[in-house]
Amino acid sequence: MRELANVNGTICALEDAVIPAEDRGCLFGDGVYEVVRAYQGRLWGLHRHWRRFQRSLREIDLQPANLEEMRSWIEETYRASRIPNATVYFHLTRGASPRNHSWSEVLEPSFFMSVRPFTDRGIVAGVKVQSVPDLRWRRCDIKSLNLLPNVLAKQQARKLGAYEALLVDTRGNVTEGSSSAALAILERTIIAPPQTSSILPSITREFVEEIAVGLKLSFQERWLSLAEFRSAGEAFLAGTSDEVTGITHVDGQAVGTGGVGPWTREIQKAYRQRIERGKD
Ligand code: PDD
Repeated sequence: MRELANVNGTICALEDAVIPAEDRGCLFGDGVYEVVRAYQGRLWGLHRHWRRFQRSLREIDLQPANLEEMRSWIEETYRASRIPNATVYFHLTRGASPRNHSWSEVLEPSFFMSVRPFTDRGIVAGVKVQSVPDLRWRRCDIKSLNLLPNVLAKQQARKLGAYEALLVDTRGNVTEGSSSAALAILERTIIAPPQTSSILPSITREFVEEIAVGLKLSFQERWLSLAEFRSAGEAFLAGTSDEVTGITHVDGQAVGTGGVGPWTREIQKAYRQRIERGKD
């Protein structure tokens, strides 16, 4: 097992990876990324992440000629790491050049990827979330490297003893977590925010929607105010790192009985089973 990086097609030890200081990803956050998990030696849902990555690239007008080659780098680098349960991160930036807001079409896009073991956070007991104003831009559907509002929100939540920030827009509606989707359950219906440019199209949420069918739960898209979210019977986070994690408290107030709800447990179980079966 070895923590590895891949920089523009070259595999190296993660601690040896070097990126030019004038990379536009570093100067402007001018790039897009993905985070993928590997379970038992297999990249989970890579085709879905790849689809979203391609879309993000299109949306920022970044079209490298060797995109398909990058996909093979991801698979090859992951295989070489021999880390069975891993977090695989990759991004593509517009490349390195002297700092200038506008870019030249001749820039070479710059690829970076890392593979690290996934360390289980042991959060099955459920987590507390803290509401924080959603200060992000209007294209949160793009998985962009610009994550300052997300990291500030997460840090604020952590300072207040919560695991995740629950982002609330100017209308008072819950959008998502700082690095996860946020869903509620009312009666037998999973409520998710409408898939607009205010939120990331979460892949884990996509799995949850598919799993809901088998559990005979309805899945509905509509906005929930913070008060509605807080008073739902159950609520949970969904994300590549957090998988399906029950929300026990919002702003210190218990959701439902203050534990992980029974439907949330069913969804967690079904998601785990699906991973074990490799049905992505
Ligand atoms: N975050 N919303 C935001 C803002 C996210 O950053 C993420 C993922 C999600 C969940 O998306 P998915 O189910 O496709 O992972 C929702 C990743 C894991 C991260 O930035 O580390």
